[in-house]
Amino acid sequence: MAYGLLKGKKGIIFGALDENSIAWKIALKCKEEGAEFTLTNAPIALRMGEINKLAEKCGSEVIPADATSVEDLEKLIFRSVEVLGGKLDFILHSIGMSPNVRKNKPYEDLNYDFYQKTIDISALSFHKIMHVVYKNESMNEYGSIVALTYIAAQRVFPDYTDMSDAKSTLESIARNFGYKFAQKGKVRVNTISQSPTVTTAGKGIAGFNAFIDFAEKLSPLGNATAEDCADYCVTLFSDLTRKVTMQNLYHDGGFSNTGLTKALMENLK
Ligand SMILES: NC(=O)c1ccc[n+]([C@@H]2O[C@H](COP(=O)([O-])OP(=O)(O)OC[C@H]3O[C@@H](n4cnc5c(N)ncnc54)[C@H](O)[C@@H]3O)[C@@H](O)[C@H]2O)c1
Repeated sequence: MAYGLLKGKKGIIFGALDENSIAWKIALKCKEEGAEFTLTNAPIALRMGEINKLAEKCGSEVIPADATSVEDLEKLIFRSVEVLGGKLDFILHSIGMSPNVRKNKPYEDLNYDFYQKTIDISALSFHKIMHVVYKNESMNEYGSIVALTYIAAQRVFPDYTDMSDAKSTLESIARNFGYKFAQKGKVRVNTISQSPTVTTAGKGIAGFNAFIDFAEKLSPLGNATAEDCADYCVTLFSDLTRKVTMQNLYHDGGFSNTGLTKALMENLK
């Protein structure tokens, strides 16, 4: 059921790779709620061509941008404002990649060139995007910027390796830029800390199925799906959450506040 929560709102959605991507589900939900937006991903990801199917459904232009390149981000943001016919009301950062995770490098033996890539792609890109929109005053008042994160920023999940550091940095950037943006244009900046979700990035984590199962059993409401995340994200892009900023918001079925559940106890017997 649609509520028209994003009627007339314009935005940019980063990170829809294929139909499993959380950004993919968020794009469909934003469209359903009346938003207009451009879609973007790294040039190499666009070569897969999947995003064109989403673009067709959403009536969106696809604009390539490597989120680590300020030059690409400038072109993307100027073009988006041009095609959408005005400033932006929302931005979704749904970007994550760790070469160390991909190459199974454990946390105690990281490759530091890879580490820098992880931080640049998964965290600094968020700063770079906000830097460009802040400098060029590309956001409307009470606009909303959201990035996706994971609870490994606060707690140890050994196989998440350097992505944990990237997520801590990402959440810190949200707080610090959130302060600056609130002062300049009343723009909100938040992170959503999402349950483990089966996607290309998610499946890269070692033992992911056991990880999902554990989280499901430790979450009183069960894991939040990508569709649930899309619903939540829409509320943050809408005018109903205009005073929510600089927050890391858990969207995890209660996982973050639970010590033990009956379901998990049953498993341990
Ligand atoms: N899947 C999970 O379990 C889970 C849980 C919590 C948070 N998250 C976060 O959600 C976000 C989206 O991940 P997902 O699970 O939908 O996986 P996904 O693999 O579908 O999305 C990751 C996206 O990052 C993009 N990307 C990588 N390098 C880039 C670059 N240089 N420039 C621009 N884009 C680039 C990829 O092309 C891809 O579209 C990530 O931040 C991830 O850490 C995922």
